[in-house]
Amino acid sequence: MSEKVATVRTHANIALAKYWGKADIARNLPAVPSLSLTLAGMRTTTEVRFTSELAADELWLSGKPQPGKPLERASKLLSEVRALAGVRTFARVRSHNDFPTASGLASSASGFAALALAAVKALDLRLPLERVTALARAASASAARSLYGGYVELLASAEHATRVAPPEHWPLTMLVAVTSEAAKDTGSTDGMQHTARTSPYYASWVTDAPRLFAEVKAAVLAKDFERLAPAVEQSALAMHASMLAASPALIYFRPATLAVIETVRDLRRAGTAACFTIDAGPHVKVLVEPKDAALVRERLARAPGVLRVLESAPGPDASVLPQGAPEVLS
Ligand code: DP6
Repeated sequence: MSEKVATVRTHANIALAKYWGKADIARNLPAVPSLSLTLAGMRTTTEVRFTSELAADELWLSGKPQPGKPLERASKLLSEVRALAGVRTFARVRSHNDFPTASGLASSASGFAALALAAVKALDLRLPLERVTALARAASASAARSLYGGYVELLASAEHATRVAPPEHWPLTMLVAVTSEAAKDTGSTDGMQHTARTSPYYASWVTDAPRLFAEVKAAVLAKDFERLAPAVEQSALAMHASMLAASPALIYFRPATLAVIETVRDLRRAGTAACFTIDAGPHVKVLVEPKDAALVRERLARAPGVLRVLESAPGPDASVLPQGAPEVLS
């Protein structure tokens, strides 16, 4: 083999029912079921090029080399795909996100999903997408959910993600109030391990998460916003409560995070249906019906500390791009 290459596009996903904690650390199996929405507006483009010129794997993000931990994680996933294909060639990975990276905006999810699919396609492996979700999940569990569009679940201890409903089932709008451009201090993998080890509330989180997941799933299937909103918020806040009780505490909230929460609660008191969710970072993601998106967006943009607001509809499945047009990669 001299060169084998594929370029894919994936989309970030935001969990409406959160994954936080592992049932099996070595295999990276989640301790709780989660359900997410894939977002059309937050995209990762990744090219994987296996070439006999290389003496080791390389990872480039937006034109910058990524040594250390990120490269190790990528290389591990590449090695799994190499083993399936029976090849030993190293790969150069070039990836680009059109949204802030490593700050709680789900960049690892779309990133590892893209890497898994691009590696599989480059090496001409004929695997069902479900099998690709298992490869992505082993690298980063939330990544399994980014291979499908629309509403997607990853059950507790599950190997692979499953589609719950396609994007057109319920075209809600997700508004992302960006409160910082900085990378976060504690990544999700370390954060959830720290929570599991030191938080007295972690066990309660794991016990209660399946109930919240079931509630979120039922509300999504019934397209019932009034039922969805409290379950989404409780899932996020219960997850954060387990982090806040860790020792030392894991606090991802910034003053702007609370300002946006307050704005959403004010909007609701005034009769606008909206609910928030927060991941391992300071941003707040707000779910609304499309008819209310403009009003809510304008209010979020005015909340103190909000830098900008991204707007997104439900996104599609991961896709393979035609060769020769990776203009967004450099
Ligand atoms: C808060 O999938 O990044 O975004 O499996 O260790 O890579 P690893 O963790 P990761 O955790 C995501 C946590 C979350 C919630 C969610 O997306 O469900």
